[in-house]
Amino acid sequence: RAQMQAQSLALSDAMTQAAEYYKLQLRQAPAAIGYLKGRGLTGEIAARFALGYAPGGWDNLRSVFRDYDAPALVEAGLVIDRVDEEGHRNKRYDRFRERVMFPIRNTKGQVIAFGGRIMEQGEPKYLNSPETPLFSKGHELYGLFEARQAIRDAGYVLVTEGYMDVVALAQMGFPQAVATLGTACTTTHVQKLLRQTDNVIFSFDGDKAGRRAARRALEACLPHVSDNKTIKFLFLPAEHDPDSYIREFGAPAFEQQVHEAMPLSQFLLREVAADYDLSEPEGRARVQFDAKPMLQAMSPSALRLQIVRGLASMTQSSPGEIEALCELSKPVAE
Ligand code: GTP
Ligand code: MN
Ligand code: MN
Ligand code: MN
Ligand code: MN
Repeated sequence: RAQMQAQSLALSDAMTQAAEYYKLQLRQAPAAIGYLKGRGLTGEIAARFALGYAPGGWDNLRSVFRDYDAPALVEAGLVIDRVDEEGHRNKRYDRFRERVMFPIRNTKGQVIAFGGRIMEQGEPKYLNSPETPLFSKGHELYGLFEARQAIRDAGYVLVTEGYMDVVALAQMGFPQAVATLGTACTTTHVQKLLRQTDNVIFSFDGDKAGRRAARRALEACLPHVSDNKTIKFLFLPAEHDPDSYIREFGAPAFEQQVHEAMPLSQFLLREVAADYDLSEPEGRARVQFDAKPMLQAMSPSALRLQIVRGLASMTQSSPGEIEALCELSKPVAE
C-alpha cells in the first residue's frame, strides 16, 4: 500500500512536470499560438486551461526528466516503449509530438491526463492519454476543475463532447461547461455532475455521432432521474457543435438555445416514438416495448409517473396498463 502510494505520487509528479514543460513550449511556438488565436482564443483563456504545446521530435521529454527510462513515464502514458518482434522493449519515444496540449485535471487540480490536437489535417485528430492509474476515461470530465465555481454561479452545467467546445464556451462567456471526451456519457459521469448541481444540460454535436451520444446520455441519466433534478438536452443544427455555433451565431443565440433545451421527459418520449407509426396497434406496441426498459431503469418518482402518463396517452393506453407491462419480465432486483 505504501509502495502504491509512492508510485502514484511519482506518476502525478511526472504529469505536473510534463504539463509545465508543454506550457512553456507553447510560448515559443508561434504556429501553435497562431492556431489557438485562429480558433478565437485569447492568451487569458489558454492560461485558464493551462494549454500547452508538444513540439516535434521523438524524445523532447529527455530534457524534462532526469531519468527518461523511469518506469513511471510509461505508466503515466507520457512515453511509449516500442516492442520488437522478440517482445523486447527497445526504443522509447514521446507519445505527444507536434500537438496542442489540453491537460485534464482532477477536481484537486492535478494533471492526470492530456489530450493533444493535431494542428493540420491528420489522424488521429485528438490523441489522448491511455488509461493509467491516475486516469479513467469513464470517470473524468474535461474542464470540471476549471468550471466548478462557474457551475455553482450559473446554477447549471453544460455537458459537451469536446475539448474545444469547453474552451470556446468559456471564452464566449459560458465557463460552466465540461466535456465527456468522445466517450459515452456514463452513469458515473452523471453521478459526478449531479454532485455539482441539480441542473444538467447536455449539448452534443448536431451530427449523427452527437445524436447517438445524446441517446446514450439519456440512458445513463435514467437511474438518476428524480424530482429535484432537471436534466435537459440541447440540439444544435446538424453541421454545428457548441464551439462552431457560438462562434457563428454569438453568445445570445447560444443562451437562447440553452433556454429552449428539451427536458428529459420530452426527449425520452420523442426517442421512443421516433421510428414507429402511432396510428397502428403494432406501432403503439413497439413504442411501449422500447419504453419498457427505460421505465424499468427509473426509480419511482413524480416525473416517472408523468412520463408514464405521456406514454399512455401516446399509445392509447392507461398508466396502469403501462405499469403492468413494466412488471412483466422485470429485471431481477438484487
Ligand atoms: P475540433 O475539430 O478541434 O473542433 O474537435 P471536436 O471536439 O469538435 O471533435 P469531434 O466533434 O470530432 O470529436 C469530439 C471529441 O471526441 C473530441 O473533442 C475528442 O475528445 C474526441 N475525438 C475526436 N477525434 C478523436 C480521435 O481521432 N481520437 C480520439 N481518441 N478521440 C477523438
Ligand atoms: Mn471525430
Ligand atoms: Mn462531432
Ligand atoms: Mn469542434
Ligand atoms: Mn465537435
